Amino acid sequence: MYENGGGAMPGSGFDEWVAAFEAEKARREWIADPEWGHGVELPAVVVRSLQKFQVGEDGDGANLRAKADLAGDAAYSAAVRLFVDEERNHARLLAELLGAAGAPLLDGHWSDRIFVRVRRLLGLRTELMVLMVAELVAVEYYRSLRDGLADPLAREVTGRILRDERRHIPFHVQRLRQSFGEIAPSARPFAQLAWLLLALAGALFVAVDHGPALHAVRASRGRFLGAVARHARVVGARMAAREGRAVADPQAG
Ligand SMILES: [Fe+2]
Ligand SMILES: [Fe+2]
Repeated sequence: MYENGGGAMPGSGFDEWVAAFEAEKARREWIADPEWGHGVELPAVVVRSLQKFQVGEDGDGANLRAKADLAGDAAYSAAVRLFVDEERNHARLLAELLGAAGAPLLDGHWSDRIFVRVRRLLGLRTELMVLMVAELVAVEYYRSLRDGLADPLAREVTGRILRDERRHIPFHVQRLRQSFGEIAPSARPFAQLAWLLLALAGALFVAVDHGPALHAVRASRGRFLGAVARHARVVGARMAAREGRAVADPQAG
């Protein structure tokens, strides 16, 4: 089942994640794509915002997969591959949605190029910490769009992506909890604080850059920032908590 020849850590807990990602993949194939042919009506500021998110979703999977392989846990490597597939599927869904709106895709965006370049320089733990910020921002962004857009196709697509992004958070928490266990106990609070500041900076950047789109779906920048900050506090505490297997999504609703 796993291509990686490295020895799996017994009981690392990622077999359950492989099963969960595979079940999700089967469900995705079962429900099939929404009907794109009906077209979609989106405010111009939302189109511009989705074009940037589409580039971000089409991220640097090969790099993350290589780092996951080096961690020597075959189940984790397999889970990361399935995770990357889900992110690529988000890029595909957004591309279809933008196509249905008659909008072109962007070749790239400077903020995404910086994001990818920085992540390449990092080790697995730091990369996952950066990626976690992107997941937190994505959850609040897609939720704002799903709840605030009038178009049913756009609501369907953002709702589908939101469902996956919510699952990605406990997935990364589980690996980061292991990684935090490798940091000296005295340094953990500083790592947690540094991550929290990074999360706030990331949320602020997106709130400013995508402010007009948030405004168009009646989600203010302040509310967006507050929601990401509250979620980040809970997730940061879970990452730094003593290693354990029980990981629940901290977000209901
Ligand atoms: Fe995504
Ligand atoms: Fe994600």
